Amino acid sequence: MSMLVDPFQRRIEYVRISVTDRCDLRCFYCMPEGFRGFEEPEDWLTHDEIERVARAFTSMGVRRIRLTGGEPLVRKNLTGLAARLAALPDLEDLSLSTNATRLARHASELRQAGVSRINVSLDSLRPEVFQRITKGKLEKVLAGLMAAKEAGITPVKINMVVMKGVNDDEVESMVEFCLEHGFTLRFIETMPVGDTGRNATDYYVDLGEVRQRLARHFDLIPGAMPGGGPARYVRVAGTEMNIGFITPLSQHFCDTCNRVRLSVDGTLFLCLGQEDRFELRPLLRDGISDAGLEEAIRTAISLKPEKHEFREKPEQVVRFMSMTGG
Ligand SMILES: C[S@@+](CC[C@H](N)C(=O)[O-])C[C@H]1O[C@@H](n2cnc3c(N)ncnc32)[C@H](O)[C@@H]1O
Ligand code: SF4
Repeated sequence: MSMLVDPFQRRIEYVRISVTDRCDLRCFYCMPEGFRGFEEPEDWLTHDEIERVARAFTSMGVRRIRLTGGEPLVRKNLTGLAARLAALPDLEDLSLSTNATRLARHASELRQAGVSRINVSLDSLRPEVFQRITKGKLEKVLAGLMAAKEAGITPVKINMVVMKGVNDDEVESMVEFCLEHGFTLRFIETMPVGDTGRNATDYYVDLGEVRQRLARHFDLIPGAMPGGGPARYVRVAGTEMNIGFITPLSQHFCDTCNRVRLSVDGTLFLCLGQEDRFELRPLLRDGISDAGLEEAIRTAISLKPEKHEFREKPEQVVRFMSMTGG
């Protein structure tokens, strides 16, 4: 088996699969409030098609898959899809990114289906601020988080997009919350993805500042988390808690990028911060062979750009984050 290696000698071993571009929330940095331009159901990859693409990737060395969206739990029978992917013989790790509004109902069955790790977006612990950011109800998310904890999913990672004057006064209380519940916490910088993301960069906070602020309240020591993701971690001394900083703007991490993204309509996006893409759906529906599919994926990987240009060309990415799932 030959591995997937891009033109910059980076091995691709991680695929993020967006199972829907729809969502029951409207985080203002992600999707516009009245947005209706969703993909039509006939253009969604079916579970069979998603499994086929995932199998092809795993046969070429991909070991980790994350299900994302939009909100993945709005797609019917996500648990069934998760179980099929978890059963792929070469897959080592199946995870999920969710806003957790529907997690209370599904946490236990997802765990049984083989979802080992969950990332949950949570930008505020104040109901009114949460509502302002997402248009949704905080209590549902908290119920989902507690269900994940009870179901024994570990780690649960909280993703908080830090925004000046919106929620940046909550970074300490979010650390306390995660300490109390045994969650990992990751802070994220706003990214200029779509008009929504570009507008949100008005609230941009350099996470280096957040780290310095936290160091005044907590004893932070160097930390690490398995998984080879983009976050840089510290640990709160005397605890098991890791805090990650995802800093695509202030310190980019493109030289170690190991991933590509599949959108619900079967488009492979080669970089979160560029528009380079390759469409798999027409090939899948034209009856491409397994060998042909592997060749197509290799061609796609050969298009992977070296790096994002969020700083140099913030206007570049026109799609919303909800299309590729972050
Ligand atoms: C697009 S969501 C998809 C999965 C799920 N709905 C969720 O919210 O976790 C994935 C992640 O992207 C982040 N995100 C969306 N738009 C962003 C932006 N403009 N800048 C930074 N992060 C963003 C969200 O906060 C979330 O953590
Ligand atoms: S960040 Fe996630 S929860 Fe928020 S609107 Fe985007 S897809 Fe939905």
